[in-house]
Amino acid sequence: MPTQTASVSIAPARRLATEAPDAPGDKSISHRAVLFGALAEGETNVTNLAPGKDVASTMSCVAALGASVERRGRGAVRIRGGAWHDPAAALDCGNSGTTMRLLMGALATRTIAATLDGDDSLRRRPMRRIAEPLQAFGARIDTTDGHAPVRVHGGYALRGTTLQLAIASAQLATSLTIAATGANGRSELDGAVGARDHTERLLPHFGIHVERRGSVLVVDGPQRFRGTDLRVPGDPSAAAFWLAAAAIVPGARIAVRGVCLNPTRIGFVRALERMGADVRMVVETDVPEPSGTIEVAHAPLRAIALGGDEVPGIIDELPLLGVVAAYAQGTTTVRGAAELRVKESDRIEVLAAGLRALGGTVTTVPDGFDVTGGQLAGGTVESGGDHRLAMAFAIGALGAADAVTIDDASCVAISHPSFFDELEALRR
Ligand code: S3P
Repeated sequence: MPTQTASVSIAPARRLATEAPDAPGDKSISHRAVLFGALAEGETNVTNLAPGKDVASTMSCVAALGASVERRGRGAVRIRGGAWHDPAAALDCGNSGTTMRLLMGALATRTIAATLDGDDSLRRRPMRRIAEPLQAFGARIDTTDGHAPVRVHGGYALRGTTLQLAIASAQLATSLTIAATGANGRSELDGAVGARDHTERLLPHFGIHVERRGSVLVVDGPQRFRGTDLRVPGDPSAAAFWLAAAAIVPGARIAVRGVCLNPTRIGFVRALERMGADVRMVVETDVPEPSGTIEVAHAPLRAIALGGDEVPGIIDELPLLGVVAAYAQGTTTVRGAAELRVKESDRIEVLAAGLRALGGTVTTVPDGFDVTGGQLAGGTVESGGDHRLAMAFAIGALGAADAVTIDDASCVAISHPSFFDELEALRR
């Protein structure tokens, strides 16, 4: 099936292969590796970099700021960072919230000015949540009514500060942590508990010392980034689709190797386990993060209730969980997930509309959804231009009574360009 096709049709699956292809490099870690490499003096070599358009956006932005970014074959990149200069034009962050939000913090530490912009989806996403706490460091940032385009005026001396984060967001925590490395004095950042902690795990590789004291991250500034070499582990958010396929299709058992098993990223695997799927996880290495193999085997699934502290660790997989819930006995409830409404799409409404179009039973609330299980019938769904929704519906098709057509499916290229080819291969 050609990956570029806008509309893709997926037939139900009777059998699936037992080994999925290795998951692509983790997108969150890849963004950080590229950006930290661009901030660093000296050379950074990254392998197994995430293949999608989002990380390409981060690479083209740092290149426009003066970093040298040299592709060295599939998934390998050499970055020479250091001095940044004013970009010739607005930096295009494409569809990538992580690119824009992390760059806001990084640019605030530099003596240049830059405008950050993105596609229509990114222009709808909230940026004041990053700009305001950065202003507490002394940064000067103008948003467009709280959105992109965002103008960062570097050159203002940052001072360390104490902040309580309003949202348990890793993008927010990372942006502020980068600012703290460029600020004079101590910063204490509280409130990102449960959110992915890749930043604090990676910074020491780049020569930056940070200290975790309970829920507070302590950063003494200013500090300088030093180049390093690292291999990005596989993306658990990409692996989740194959694991969900195993959970849905009777008789299936699928293993994915080389996946990042950082405890802040495996909420989906834990949820599948609670739903009754047979789950095995083996950690095989700890550098730069715990990584290894996950295997899931089908078993009759039951509904679960999910919310509160569990949400940050499964935030990107909640649409997929909604699809899996459509095959579980009972009503699965998700609460405390209002953040889903400000992702690449309003993921609560796009999920609900899609599941209904396929014959599912869904109700939505401001901060979540309820899905009553059974079996999806099949039909045509809209992805909302959102890569994670397009892939979630494709997996839902595997257990459906009839084929599922996904309109606007080319958006999978944001995180996983070879997704449909790999899905085809898995059916053999
Ligand atoms: C990300 C953090 C999460 C996640 C996003 C990537 C990151 O967003 O949804 O896909 O790399 O830090 P929030 O920080 O807004 O929760």
